[in-house]
Amino acid sequence: MKAVALTHYLPISDPESLFDARLPKPHPAGRDLLVRVEAVSVNPVDTKVRAPKDNVEDAPKVLGYDAAGVVESVGEEVTRFQPGDAVYYAGDITRPGSNAEFQLVDERIVGHKPETLSFAEAAAMPLTTITAWEALFTRLSINRAGGNRGDSILIIGGAGGVGSIAIQLAKLAGLVAIATASRPQSQAWATQMGADHTVDYSDALIEAMTQLGHREVDFIANFNNTDDYWGVMAELIRPQGKIVGIVGNRDPLDLNLLKNKSATFAWEFMFTRSMYQTADMADQGHLLDEVAALVDAGKLRTTLGQTLSPINAANLRQAHAQVESGRTIGKLVLAGWR
Ligand SMILES: NC(=O)c1ccc[n+]([C@@H]2O[C@H](COP(=O)([O-])OP(=O)(O)OC[C@H]3O[C@@H](n4cnc5c(N)ncnc54)[C@H](OP(=O)(O)O)[C@@H]3O)[C@@H](O)[C@H]2O)c1
Repeated sequence: MKAVALTHYLPISDPESLFDARLPKPHPAGRDLLVRVEAVSVNPVDTKVRAPKDNVEDAPKVLGYDAAGVVESVGEEVTRFQPGDAVYYAGDITRPGSNAEFQLVDERIVGHKPETLSFAEAAAMPLTTITAWEALFTRLSINRAGGNRGDSILIIGGAGGVGSIAIQLAKLAGLVAIATASRPQSQAWATQMGADHTVDYSDALIEAMTQLGHREVDFIANFNNTDDYWGVMAELIRPQGKIVGIVGNRDPLDLNLLKNKSATFAWEFMFTRSMYQTADMADQGHLLDEVAALVDAGKLRTTLGQTLSPINAANLRQAHAQVESGRTIGKLVLAGWR
């Protein structure tokens, strides 16, 4: 099968950083599906795993997490899918990735693809949607049925992949969504995703929030650098409010800044369930099915921003370079193999 792989961890400007390869087609066993991959999206995690270091792989290593495709065959214990089903999923960081014509994935973390979306539109969604859903509804305990209606949330990184879907989920729950966005294009995009307000993070954020009439917010979802926003978040969070972060900190964080406010800080890592094979791992598959139903009902929309075609090393290198710039709006997808 065709695949895009690496053996050395090189800067993305190096043509050998990702190369076209021919690899054996895998066979499914147990709870695995073998999926014919039609489209993939590139996330910052792809670039972080690929980042330059001295390790050398003995065999070509395939990256890629988000995918949409069609089930080709199934392992003997599979119950939720059959060959021919269209699926979408974010995969498992400990296994070979989606940048290949065929990929094995555990059925428990797979959803049925939204019927109203193309493969490219569907591939844009899983990783960021699982992250945003777990961040808002699990870690921040925001009530999806409207129990937090009218509460405010600051979404840092509003026009990025995670922010674009988090804005939509926050609006679905009836929250007032304030999204950071620093450029006219990202501001327009965040507004299009449903943000009630946008604020430019390059200005003094506390002052900008005060001017908006939101000197304090009930929730903060930080989809950018945790260290840089720690002090600002401690200032902006309402007493007894909740903050979620998804980017690991470089330096120790001063938890005391949250103490007098009895504010909560929680981590979200969307690979936790597959990495530790948690008992509730199948919730991610159900979550993706629920999201597909919301998309098909017109309540959520794809966050696809740009599509490159076909899926090959040259286009993936271009996509990695763009994601590494930190300026992507919505999601960047690659579709088709020729
Ligand atoms: N823990 C997890 O499970 C998990 C899951 C997914 C992602 N992540 C991590 O979360 C981060 C965001 O992921 P993503 O997919 O949303 O990334 P992304 O799509 O690449 O985010 C791009 C956006 O970031 C914004 N941005 C750049 N610098 C910023 C700053 N200083 N402050 C606020 N926003 C800034 C830009 O907005 P403007 O255009 O307005 O400047 C841009 O639109 C990455 O580090 C990623 O690795 C973690």
